[in-house]
Parts: sequence; structure tokens; C-alpha cells
Amino acid sequence: MPSNIVLIGPMGSGKSSVGAALARRLSRPHVDTDHFFVARHGPIPRYFATYGEQAFRAEEERIVAELLDAPRPSVISLGGGSVTSAATRSLLTEHFVVMLDVTAAQAELRIGDAATRPVLTEGTDDPPIERWKRIYAEREPLYRQLADLVVSAEEASIEDRVDTIVEAM
Ligand code: S3P
Repeated sequence: MPSNIVLIGPMGSGKSSVGAALARRLSRPHVDTDHFFVARHGPIPRYFATYGEQAFRAEEERIVAELLDAPRPSVISLGGGSVTSAATRSLLTEHFVVMLDVTAAQAELRIGDAATRPVLTEGTDDPPIERWKRIYAEREPLYRQLADLVVSAEEASIEDRVDTIVEAM
């Protein structure tokens, strides 16, 4: 199985933008599991509303497995919740896994319109950033256990973070 570089981390940590820049630097394809999901099934909020989160997670798990098995070594940005799947976690041991970390304040700036992320808005009247913090607290241990490298977004440009990842490979 090819060894991909896989970016994990919370919503708003820059997995898509850092993934695209890293792929350009390494002349590898970049795939983003959320984009792949949307191309196949339409908008994520609509899918959640119609089928529920469990169905989303099952389909996300299938898509991640398919993309990790890509014919060429790639850079793969995962949706923030994909690490909640035990099957996905066991597949990740074969790849170089980078956690992109971010503070709540930075994530809040980056997330912008929370309506595109139903996990932040469904079933709660709390502000999206409060929900983000609770989800982060639940998932942080998973991200850290899986990561071969943790890269903080603190004060670092996208290209700086790409440099850090390339140096660590
Ligand atoms: C989710 C994160 C989103 C997307 C979906 C659920 C999550 O991806 O997969 O809305 O549970 O954290 P990003 O991490 O790219 O925002």
C-alpha cells in the first residue's frame, strides 16, 4: 500500500489549505475527503439533515478507505471527525500522519460560516465556538495518538507549516 501524507485536526485548522500547498510543493495529488464527499453526495449539511450523522460517518469511513488506497502517493486532508472511526484509525498507522493544531480563537476566525458544519450547529443553541471547544476536547487525544507530527498554526504561515512538514518527513 502506498504511504500517503494524511492531515488530521479540528475544524478550522487549515487541513485543506495546508494540504493543497504541501501537495504543490511535493508535486503530489491532493485530495480532500470533504470535497470528495460533496462531489459524490452534495452538500454535507443537506446530507446530515436527510440521513443523519451516523450515515455520514459510515460514508466518510468508506471514502477515507478508498482515498487512502490511492494508486499514487498523495496528500490527503481528512474531515475533522473522521478520526472517530476505529476502522479509519487503524488504516492511518500505514501513513505519515500530521496533526494541524489550532487555538479556539484562530479556529473561530477561520470557520466563518458555521452553517456549513452541521456538527457545530445541530441540536444546540450554544455558540458554534463553544461546541467547537467541546468537540476539540473529545477528539484531541485521538489526534495526538495518531500523529507522527503535530504542527501548530500559531503565528505560522501556510508555507512555514509546509516547510515544517517537509523537514520532518
Ligand atoms: C466535521 C468536520 C468537517 C466535515 C463535517 C464534519 C467534524 O470537516 O467533515 O462537517 O465532525 O469535525 P472539516 O474538518 O474540514 O471542517
